[in-house]
Amino acid sequence: MKRITIVAGLMLINALLLQAQPKKAVSAVDKKVDDLIAKMTLEEKVGQMTEVTSDVVSTNKNGVHLIDADKIKEAILKYHVGSILNVTGHAYDRKHWYEVVSTIQAEAAKDRLKIPVIYGIDAIHGVTYTTGSTLFPQEIAMAATFNRDIVHRAGEITAYETRASYIPWNYSPVLDLGKSPLWPRIYETFGEDPYLIKTMGAAIITGYQGNDVSDKYHVAACMKHYLGYGDPLSGKDRTPAWIPDRYMREYFLPPFAEAVKAGARTIMINSGEINGVPLHASKYMLTDVLRGELHFDGIAVTDWKDIEYLHDRHHVAATQKDAVMIAVNAGVDMSMVPYEYTFYNYLIELVHEGKVSMARINEAVHRILKVKYQLGLFERPVGNPDDYPKFGSDEFRNVSLQAATEAITLLKNNNNILPLKKDVKVLVAGPTANTMRALDGGWSYTWQGEQSDKFAVNKHTILQAIQQKIGKEHVTFEPGATFDSQQNMNDAVNAAKNADVIVLCLGEMSYTENVGNIDDLNLPAAQTELAMELAKTGKPIVLILAEGRPRIVTRAESKSSATIMAYLAGNEGGDALADILFGDANPSGRLPVTYPQYPNSLVNYYRKNLENGNPDDKHGYNPLYEFGFGLSYTTFAYSNLHISKPTLSDNETLTVSVDVKNTGQRAGKESVLLYTSQLYASIAPDTKRLRAYDKIDLQPGETKTITFKLTPKDLSFVNDLSKTVTEAGEFKIQVGNLVQNFNYISNHDIPDRSGKL
Ligand code: BGC
Repeated sequence: MKRITIVAGLMLINALLLQAQPKKAVSAVDKKVDDLIAKMTLEEKVGQMTEVTSDVVSTNKNGVHLIDADKIKEAILKYHVGSILNVTGHAYDRKHWYEVVSTIQAEAAKDRLKIPVIYGIDAIHGVTYTTGSTLFPQEIAMAATFNRDIVHRAGEITAYETRASYIPWNYSPVLDLGKSPLWPRIYETFGEDPYLIKTMGAAIITGYQGNDVSDKYHVAACMKHYLGYGDPLSGKDRTPAWIPDRYMREYFLPPFAEAVKAGARTIMINSGEINGVPLHASKYMLTDVLRGELHFDGIAVTDWKDIEYLHDRHHVAATQKDAVMIAVNAGVDMSMVPYEYTFYNYLIELVHEGKVSMARINEAVHRILKVKYQLGLFERPVGNPDDYPKFGSDEFRNVSLQAATEAITLLKNNNNILPLKKDVKVLVAGPTANTMRALDGGWSYTWQGEQSDKFAVNKHTILQAIQQKIGKEHVTFEPGATFDSQQNMNDAVNAAKNADVIVLCLGEMSYTENVGNIDDLNLPAAQTELAMELAKTGKPIVLILAEGRPRIVTRAESKSSATIMAYLAGNEGGDALADILFGDANPSGRLPVTYPQYPNSLVNYYRKNLENGNPDDKHGYNPLYEFGFGLSYTTFAYSNLHISKPTLSDNETLTVSVDVKNTGQRAGKESVLLYTSQLYASIAPDTKRLRAYDKIDLQPGETKTITFKLTPKDLSFVNDLSKTVTEAGEFKIQVGNLVQNFNYISNHDIPDRSGKL
């Protein structure tokens, strides 16, 4: 009895406490959403959670894709489908997009509650699937610019052109850690460093979404793929990964946490499994971490078919229906189904059976409808064709050109062979010389980018850009090899004999996702042989690497006088390269990944500090070129590295300043990178970590002082107990070739697993 009284008393106190707490204010949009949800049937709600691909509602007549009247009626009026994605086959022009989207929205307007459809697309380097759009360098190259402003601007332009295609939802940016060069999606990432990814990610998201995502020039961003996608054990796409929680939080999670802070409205889930747990089945990741810790309140959408794969691939669901139950209960809001309506049917049954609660459904639908309201889709489901006069304009093209110019990274320039004089006789060779596929990569006009030569016919391949720059009469072209086999190699070798210099363009053919899986990171043998044979002519080789990931090129590269990493520099990449080769632009890119030298040494720059003080003892870290490396045609000198105090305490800020002088003859841009290292910590500290960067312009002789601010939080790491901590101790700051040490002293006691305090 006494017990009952105590419990009742506690309940009363709890109730009073709850009452006393200020109620969270319900925003106007939340109120609208709640009112709408109150009117919805279960079927209408589950329809909102269903996303199908455009094939489901289209017919394809003689290669022309049209919305099919019966199929769209079935999708909207029978299944109340809330979202459609993708294209059928190839890029459309804006007029065709208008027809597609307005037909869909007209159907949605016939449904009882007239809820607009949210159309999604992978506009990952510009609006991929619209002809005449501005295609930027791929993310890996955007990261190489080390220039947040240009990445932000590219985000704004992409958003403008995506809305100009009547689409309000962009499945970008990729925030995955580009950790393993084996993985075929490296080019879609901002590289291997968590700080670079998180700052670039926030820059592009704020570009996509602007201050008001409802206006006609902005779109909802979709950060992807949450979480731990970038490091599969096999290196192959969508294969299992083993990532301890500590590593997940140290390297993989921060870009997503930052993106949530930047306001990203939606998130897409990783198709893979980590430590045996598919992300689509992980309540811990999708609810506890994403909602509980990161406080994300937008839509969580699956990746392609991934609920079905819980049964078919991962075998954690005995039936397809169980797969739906597991995923929705874990925290999935919308299923990219994408081909039929079983998700819809099973989910309705599961709610009737009490296996998925109505509260979970309402929560998911609330998030979806809220984004639709925030995008202004209820007022403006389609958009006005006349509102986008800048689509594909020179103004936008110039931003893409500038991005490509700032991305392209000069890795070697023996005896200053570059820039070349414009009157030299050039042999252009190699398989990446004369195809836009090697500049644009995947996700360009089509999923695999195989039609870029047709759709980007007005753009310049590397060869065409060189011809344009110095006149066709100065240029001979003999490819000498395809991507993986020889092709009239002797013709190339003979032509080299009459040339002053060989511009040898090696690299990769366009690919996307699993199609880009490789068994060998080495560049295909035919390309290396071509380099070796051309080298025998004694003519200097300028090696251009047009590739989505750092393929091992060590033998071929040993023969070059100059080496340029072009990444996938986009539609203006050919012109940017020609500008750099012939001195009309000064290169300023820096590697956002470690360029490996050997296939058995694929270690990132922030590797563990295992050298034992012996510099020859590389412990697997022995790159061809280091993360952050990149040359210029001018020279920069660093001096006066100054820290505001020798000892940093809690709640204090350390100001770090450094002078950078252009000591050469040409104007140039320099990315100033600041790294820190902790000398000793409770777990083996990373060798060094990027903590800040800035890009500056310097005229010859000019000096600028760059200032960075560091707080104890910037020096933190995730400890043995998966807690983010900053431990007291000695730190080293490195900027350019300069180094300064300081101490951090803390009043906080930090427990670790060893029992030490
Ligand atoms: C990719 C996603 C993409 C989706 C829709 C998937 O195969 O993994 O990155 O957004 O397709 O096209």
